Amino acid sequence: MAANPTNNPFDQQVAIPGVKKIIAVASGKGGVGKSTIATNLALALKDYGTVGLLDADIYGPSIPRMMGALNQKPTINSGNQIEPLSRHGIKVMSIGFLVDEASAIVWRGPMLFKAMDQFFRDVQWGELDYLVIDLPPGTGDVQLSLVQKVPVAAAVIVTTPQNISLIDAKKAIDMFERTGVKIAGVVENMSYMLSESGEKIQLFPKGEIDSYLKSKNLLKLSEVPFNTNVSLGSESGIPIMESYSDSAEAVAIKVIAKKLRELV
Ligand SMILES: Nc1ncnc2c1ncn2[C@@H]1O[C@H](COP(=O)(O)OP(=O)(O)O)[C@@H](O)[C@H]1O
Ligand SMILES: [Mg+2]
Repeated sequence: MAANPTNNPFDQQVAIPGVKKIIAVASGKGGVGKSTIATNLALALKDYGTVGLLDADIYGPSIPRMMGALNQKPTINSGNQIEPLSRHGIKVMSIGFLVDEASAIVWRGPMLFKAMDQFFRDVQWGELDYLVIDLPPGTGDVQLSLVQKVPVAAAVIVTTPQNISLIDAKKAIDMFERTGVKIAGVVENMSYMLSESGEKIQLFPKGEIDSYLKSKNLLKLSEVPFNTNVSLGSESGIPIMESYSDSAEAVAIKVIAKKLRELV
């Protein structure tokens, strides 16, 4: 018997065939390292299964460059589906593969919804244990469309240590809570920098993140240090998880992957 039609938009969620766990990587602000964390986290998750990485940052897709796949195009297979690219051992899809890097995308809600549909229904993801989704900053149409269309296993929220970033991260947390998505926890990125003697240098003023997490009973998944190798890795298309996998930064991101495996 068909289910009773309801007005609840979350009743429209349909799983992506073959995809076990969807992990959303979100933030309030841009520039806090969401794409950097999403990319390296997806690579770290290879230790626990097959992985896909979807760049859903329609307004500023970074994954093609970060994964060394700039100017590459996905192909269409015989089933008329888009084949994601394979880079560094994971499957990758980005709106950036379909438009050139310098072009702006000016889309309204319905077009964004359509693009998200295509990412989920027209891409041949195959069998994946994890699909990591890099979201745009904020709580707009892309986030809404994601939580309405597919079951999200957990959200990972990225923030820098200071309140200016945390204030907006709280809004992202609120959105996921209100839409019934489990918050795996918060990543404090660019938490500190290690000096040559191993001393922690605080780059940003430390805000009230720890007391906030405690009050909300949320987990801090990891504190990822700042290191220019991280940004150089993103620029060169060889993320640190591939080139410096024993570095303090890569190890801090591996901790997120390990906790996700336990939590979701
Ligand atoms: N842990 C880190 N160490 C050094 N640079 C970082 C780190 N995390 C992010 N960055 C740099 O900060 C900038 C913003 O990161 P990005 O991942 O593009 O943020 P977002 O996706 O949130 O806008 C980039 O230049 C990136 O290389
Ligand atoms: Mg980004």
